[in-house]
Amino acid sequence: MNTPFLSNNYIQLHPYGIEHIEKTVEWLKQPFIQQKFGTIEGISIEKHKDWLRQNQDTLKWALHAEQYIGNSFLFVNNKHHSAYFQIYLGDLKDTGKKLGYYATTLILDYAFKHLALHRVWLHCLPENLPAIKLYQRLGFVFEGLERESIFRSGTFITQGRWAILKPEWLARNGAS
Ligand SMILES: CC(C)(COP(=O)(O)OP(=O)(O)OC[C@H]1O[C@@H](n2cnc3c(N)ncnc32)[C@H](O)[C@@H]1OP(=O)(O)O)[C@@H](O)C(=O)NCCC(=O)NCCS
Repeated sequence: MNTPFLSNNYIQLHPYGIEHIEKTVEWLKQPFIQQKFGTIEGISIEKHKDWLRQNQDTLKWALHAEQYIGNSFLFVNNKHHSAYFQIYLGDLKDTGKKLGYYATTLILDYAFKHLALHRVWLHCLPENLPAIKLYQRLGFVFEGLERESIFRSGTFITQGRWAILKPEWLARNGAS
């Protein structure tokens, strides 16, 4: 599946390419990103390239505002017409400017209007308030807690599950 270029007045979403790898690995090594995802340990260029090879069917976008600022992914499950969503901005100074909102809006609009998707879902740690505010603003519905579902550094971590369905998105954002 080819990742399309998407853009609006605020942000451009480019297909993720080899030119994005070095910066991405730098970002993924930061504690503030690792804390939000709970699973990225021992990241390296080689491990990231392995991940890219293993996820060739995943839609991968590099987010560009004035410069390259983050990544977003849609792991599509065609059988169930669903996709798992991830997003991160790599530098704290780029957060809080609604760039995550503009990027996610583009992706959800593409997912529900151009792909045969019925559901987009995600995981979010219960203490990640900026992300929760973003997902609530977009219309994601909290579906519950997956109790102690991640094992990291000797501790079990609980994560929340959120999802939005196609009719919910179209009701808020028009059907065309
Ligand atoms: C979550 C994320 C994608 C949101 O994108 P964003 O561009 O920052 O989103 P917004 O600017 O719309 O901010 C959403 C809310 O969080 C708040 N916020 C964003 N960054 C913040 C920060 N660093 N500190 C405190 N509050 C913050 C905003 O003020 C806003 O709150 P409001 O609704 O009361 O106005 C981005 O913050 C990010 O990449 N964070 C690190 C990685 C991450 O957590 N990814 C999601 C994993 S589930």
